Amino acid sequence: MYYSEDLVEEVRLKNDIIDVISAYVKLQRKGSSHFGLCPFHNEKSPSFSVSPSKQMYYCFGCGAGGNVFTFIMEYENYSFPEALKVLADRAGVTLPEVEYSQEARQQADLRSAILELNKKAAKYYYYQLRTEAGKQAYHYLTDRGLSEETIKKFGLGFSNKYSNDLYQYMKKEGYSDELLKQSGLMNVDEKRGMYDKFWNRVMFPIMDVNHRVIGFGGRVMGDGKPKYLNSPETKVFDKSRNLYGLNIARTSRKESLLICEGYMDVIALHQAGFHHAVASLGTALTTQQASLVKRYAKEVYLVYDSDEAGRKAALRAIPILKASGLSVKVINMKPYKDPDEFIKNLGAQEFEKRIDDATGSFMYEIEVLEKSYDMNDPESKTKFHNEIAVKLLEFTEDLERANYIEAVADKYHIGFDNLRKLVNNMAMKSGGIKEYVKPKSGLNRKKDKEDGMIMSQKLLLTWLIENEKLFQFIKKYITADDFTEEIFQKVASMLFTQYDEGMVNPAKIINYFTDPEEQREVAALFNASIPPVDTQEEREKAIKETMIRVKENSIEHRSAHMDVTDITQLQQVIMSKRHLQDLRNLKISLDSL
Ligand code: GTP
Ligand code: MN
Repeated sequence: MYYSEDLVEEVRLKNDIIDVISAYVKLQRKGSSHFGLCPFHNEKSPSFSVSPSKQMYYCFGCGAGGNVFTFIMEYENYSFPEALKVLADRAGVTLPEVEYSQEARQQADLRSAILELNKKAAKYYYYQLRTEAGKQAYHYLTDRGLSEETIKKFGLGFSNKYSNDLYQYMKKEGYSDELLKQSGLMNVDEKRGMYDKFWNRVMFPIMDVNHRVIGFGGRVMGDGKPKYLNSPETKVFDKSRNLYGLNIARTSRKESLLICEGYMDVIALHQAGFHHAVASLGTALTTQQASLVKRYAKEVYLVYDSDEAGRKAALRAIPILKASGLSVKVINMKPYKDPDEFIKNLGAQEFEKRIDDATGSFMYEIEVLEKSYDMNDPESKTKFHNEIAVKLLEFTEDLERANYIEAVADKYHIGFDNLRKLVNNMAMKSGGIKEYVKPKSGLNRKKDKEDGMIMSQKLLLTWLIENEKLFQFIKKYITADDFTEEIFQKVASMLFTQYDEGMVNPAKIINYFTDPEEQREVAALFNASIPPVDTQEEREKAIKETMIRVKENSIEHRSAHMDVTDITQLQQVIMSKRHLQDLRNLKISLDSL
């Protein structure tokens, strides 16, 4: 951080969150909070709340949340220093000039050095595209139907014919060989030394959700091989955790995302008005990407190539996305190969229709399955029906299963009762529906337990900031170490310190997290939705049970990770168990607090 904590805090204190957010969102006071329509997702009734006392906002619909800095960063897509500048100006605070001394640069960590280098390289490529040498590349892009506006929006560029051009440029700019090597922009071999990885290619800068250039894809102009070169993984480029185009797509305010295969697909879709398109980075879709998607959308449309490879990729991606809680549909692009070609030939309106007609992932899987059976051969057809029945057992909810049985029976003219009987038979053979799904429900139970744990810890943190007396009471039994999630623990320990110093200030805690994703998570911690309780007695019971759950989990966690030869750790566990016992016997009375 370039600015002192005090300065950051001064700027925050001088920008009342209600005033700042009111300039963007129409807020209405309801009880102790102000509510409005969430600017981060589409909604018809207000679930976006801003709390004057906490100086935080939180959306109960999409989970967006943070302090006044987070809001400006998320809304305006600014980095932290940019948001700080805006708010400092607004409040009339002068920020000291940042000095990029030799020493400061050396101290800046490798990550930000690579990011800076990447940004510079992207600008250089962008500039080259508009020079005489870049003419062919520029025409390549416009011939493929891209407008000047689109080229600009995606920051497309050109790496010229000389394989040491970027290297020379960066050396002149004072960058070290070591950093250039770490950036992934250079190849190194013994004979030739260091030289550019990308040359004579159209360049696609790859950005993370905060618009930072983390890597590049480079395409040959024409039929050369390899068609695309991608940056290798570096300190800032993790292909399994980013998606091309998400920096733009996430602000599209849509509830769904379109996931396609290639950079050009994303760009063509955006140009046609589908601003919610993203692509994986030349590799198969990963679990981490699925959870990234889940942050911004509820539903996903797969827009994969209509060939065998695309079909395989879709079948692989479906369970991964579903496991993250996303609902998945597959778009059919036939007779065209990919969305880029489709739109070029049939236009945006027809594509919109394909979105409306997309097939739910379950039906899609059945359709693909059908292709491997011969429907004119009774034996093969029977096998197909059996396979369908087995697949239908995936649905553990009776009603949902019945609905799907109906839909599939309809589509393949099997007859509802026939198919239902077949499903039941299959369930019997595999030991009943419950038996059949046992491994899955076992997993779910574990997951439910984890979710429950996280919920309890969040609730406790929310209670902790809401009521000083409650804090004084809870602290007798619970310590910051009892929060087993790393980020919760950090937050709890800061909160406990703030209480000890007599100043509770949750929005300040958010200042300590520089990553907007972390800020969002911390805001969520202080905004757990308190279970609706009618009576004082119920409330007392809820608090007591939550404390017991957190304590039990902490003991379990500690015992599992304990070094048994360490006396202090042993003593801690024993002490915790004693606290737990006390808690269990305790009769909480909120009146006496
Ligand atoms: P265009 O042919 O330019 O329209 O490309 P596309 O966007 O349609 O991409 P395609 O469907 O051919 O490939 C999908 C993605 O796979 C690309 O965006 C690249 O990330 C990656 N890819 C394609 N070809 C290669 C290759 O030869 N090498 C590597 N490493 N990745 C590739
Ligand atoms: Mn293509």
